[in-house]
Amino acid sequence: MDQEQQALIEEAEKLAEGAEDSKALYDVKMRYLGRGGKVPSLMQRMKEIAQELRPAFGKQVNALREKLEELFAAREARMKEKEMAKRLEEEAVDVTMPGKKRAEGTLHPVTRVKSELIDIFSGMGFEVFEGPEVETDHYNFTALNTPADHPARDMQDTFYVGEKLLLRTQTSAGQIRLMEKKKPPIKMLSPGRVFRSDDDATHSPMFHQMEGLVVDKGITLCDLKGMLDEFARTMFAETAKTRLRPSYFPFTEPSVEVDVSCYVCGGHGCPLCKGTGWIEVLGAGMVNRHVLENCGVDPDVYSGFAFGMGIERIAMLKYGLGNIKLLTENDVRFLGQFRD
Ligand code: PHE
Repeated sequence: MDQEQQALIEEAEKLAEGAEDSKALYDVKMRYLGRGGKVPSLMQRMKEIAQELRPAFGKQVNALREKLEELFAAREARMKEKEMAKRLEEEAVDVTMPGKKRAEGTLHPVTRVKSELIDIFSGMGFEVFEGPEVETDHYNFTALNTPADHPARDMQDTFYVGEKLLLRTQTSAGQIRLMEKKKPPIKMLSPGRVFRSDDDATHSPMFHQMEGLVVDKGITLCDLKGMLDEFARTMFAETAKTRLRPSYFPFTEPSVEVDVSCYVCGGHGCPLCKGTGWIEVLGAGMVNRHVLENCGVDPDVYSGFAFGMGIERIAMLKYGLGNIKLLTENDVRFLGQFRD
């Protein structure tokens, strides 16, 4: 091997050592062994050499190529090892590190009760209908047999947003909206937010109601009672019973207040039922004939019942909550307790 070739090897070795990564090393290698590289160019010189010297020259260049190939192969192997070691270090997982905890959300108790109610009543064939939260005076009161100056308007302190526009005080407004659209038979369930200027431990200015309406031929108070019994058994306790007490709502006649036998003491009397054995859960009644007439339903052919309950109230009873504010404070320590 002549001096020129020795120099070439040393130069290649230096460049190969200096290559920072596989790509740079490959480029160096190509400069020597690739097409048009230094070694192939040497071979080109064969033509300029005297015939008898050619075999020796060829041998020499081949030896040079082999030497360079070895050199690059060795460098490549070392480079690969280094790169692998680096990757392993970078991607190392410390299995002794404490894991990251993923906080899991839960359904809000009001959402849970609402879904449970929808489950129970859709099982009885009720369909969900949702009315608007901003209502007209007509749907919230007048069509529900509560004209202006009617004393029953005082039962619900109303937030007005315009002269005849208000935040609905009751989901009963949905009864009218549905009956205007759909002719009997009707079995409607209407959940939603309602608003009243009212604020203490058991009242909040915004709360949720679940309205029910059934209209068909031959519907009686017995149908209401039977359905309520079924509801109480599913919602509260297998042994739960209901009782109806006379009450007053302008849009039902007769009107009733519905009590459920206390599911804590079984009716003997305890702090929850305040010693009475009964807990008030909702208002209901037979749809007033004026309401049916207001919606174009003939009260001499059809009859119906309606009921309305506060979802927060049901949640408070079911989960034993002492203050309605717990349901709006968004304290995760409280909310996290409602898991399946
Ligand atoms: N809308 C009444 C209330 O908010 C409840 C109710 C609904 C009563 C349907 C009778 C029938 O108090």
